[in-house]
Amino acid sequence: VKTQVCIIGAGPSGLLLSQLLANVGIDTVVLDRKDRAYIEGRIRAGVLEQGTVTALEEAGVADRLHREGLPHEGFEISFDGDRHRIDIKALTDKTVTVYGQTEVTKDLFDKRFAEGQQFFFNVENVTPIDLKSATPRVAFTHDGEHVVIACDYISGCDGFHGVSRQAIPADVLKTFERVYPFGWLGAMVDKPPVSHELIYANHERGFALASMRSETRSRYYVQCDVNDDIGAWSDDRFWEELALRLGPDAASNLTTGPSFEKSIAPLRSFVAEPMRYGNLFLAGDAAHIVPPTGAKGLNLAMADIRILSRALIEHYKDRNDHFIETYSQTVLTRVWKVERFSWQLSTLMHQFPQNSPFEKRMQRAEFDFLSSSESASRAIAENYVGLPLD
Ligand code: FAD
Ligand code: DHB
Repeated sequence: VKTQVCIIGAGPSGLLLSQLLANVGIDTVVLDRKDRAYIEGRIRAGVLEQGTVTALEEAGVADRLHREGLPHEGFEISFDGDRHRIDIKALTDKTVTVYGQTEVTKDLFDKRFAEGQQFFFNVENVTPIDLKSATPRVAFTHDGEHVVIACDYISGCDGFHGVSRQAIPADVLKTFERVYPFGWLGAMVDKPPVSHELIYANHERGFALASMRSETRSRYYVQCDVNDDIGAWSDDRFWEELALRLGPDAASNLTTGPSFEKSIAPLRSFVAEPMRYGNLFLAGDAAHIVPPTGAKGLNLAMADIRILSRALIEHYKDRNDHFIETYSQTVLTRVWKVERFSWQLSTLMHQFPQNSPFEKRMQRAEFDFLSSSESASRAIAENYVGLPLD
């Protein structure tokens, strides 16, 4: 099998790259170790930056997003029940859009399938080969057969647990990591959201987040022990804990019901450098992870792809490799700024077991400062709506 760009991973990163390249006639093959239904069913992110929406428009997959997505002009931060609204529209003249990652993935798959994209699903033993040569390849097993794809470039869009990052020699790859001492328990429920905007809450019992997917579907999270048994979290216990952490004011509007998805996710900050090695590019979770506070993971992945697609398009259309040469540096500068924001908001909004009374007072003081300072609020808003590409 031959192609121009072999894309490892059919998550949002790999699918968006395939679509943006297809739109200008660049051929790709996409492989994934799971299948379409599995990938579409993974419940993850829910908030899209304006730049992500623009990327999906450019890709030609934003019709349903414009019909069904919910534009949000602000969100709230709550501390022990005291609430401060960040008016992102007034502070930045931008908005964000509530639209689930499941829907983004569905829309991208629909268009790739309609256009006859070549996929290999349920692949095993994926191995990127000869990354420094002019003839890189990707070998894997599919339906019991050994397959080799010859290509010009390989795009590693295979998430945190993928193989692409590992294909970079250990003496070249540098990694940076922080693991947080707690997890997020998320629950989805078909009931109207507690508030028409998101609420990020820090309470002495821990963090809570009230989010949504639509006017009739809510997504809630509470900070928990990452090793908690999900079975120990009955719906009743979840609702009770959420209500306490949101505070009586917000909780008085809470409509509870049976949750139809519940899972615990760890929180991690992680960056791998460089993001290019020879003819291999890393993008999205394959290269970096942010803790979910601030909703940056999916948006950061989509921003990488916008920068990578521009580099590849310049190469094929104008024989200009400037953006290929600068890809890793350009992307990483932005990645570190987003890492900083996600780390800072996570640090402000959670109960850390090791925090002393002094550090708790510092969190409260930061909240009080935010509540009284437009410039501090604007700094949060500017990051929340998404930093410029470069
Ligand atoms: P992924 O979505 O991980 O896609 C990678 C793809 O590669 C997968 O389909 C995988 O099957 C495939 N793959 C892996 N290994 C191989 C291999 N060896 N060979 C072939 N294919 C392979 N972000 C937010 O903004 N808000 C959230 O609330 C949020 N919640 C999250 C909850 C969880 C549990 C997780 C894991 C992530 C969450 N994120 C959230 C982050 C966000 O979902 C990711 O940043 C986003 O999915 C990144 O997209 P991606 O395409 O780079 O990687
Ligand atoms: C959601 C997740 C986040 O991490 C966040 O900051 C906002 C919303 C969500 O799943 O809806």
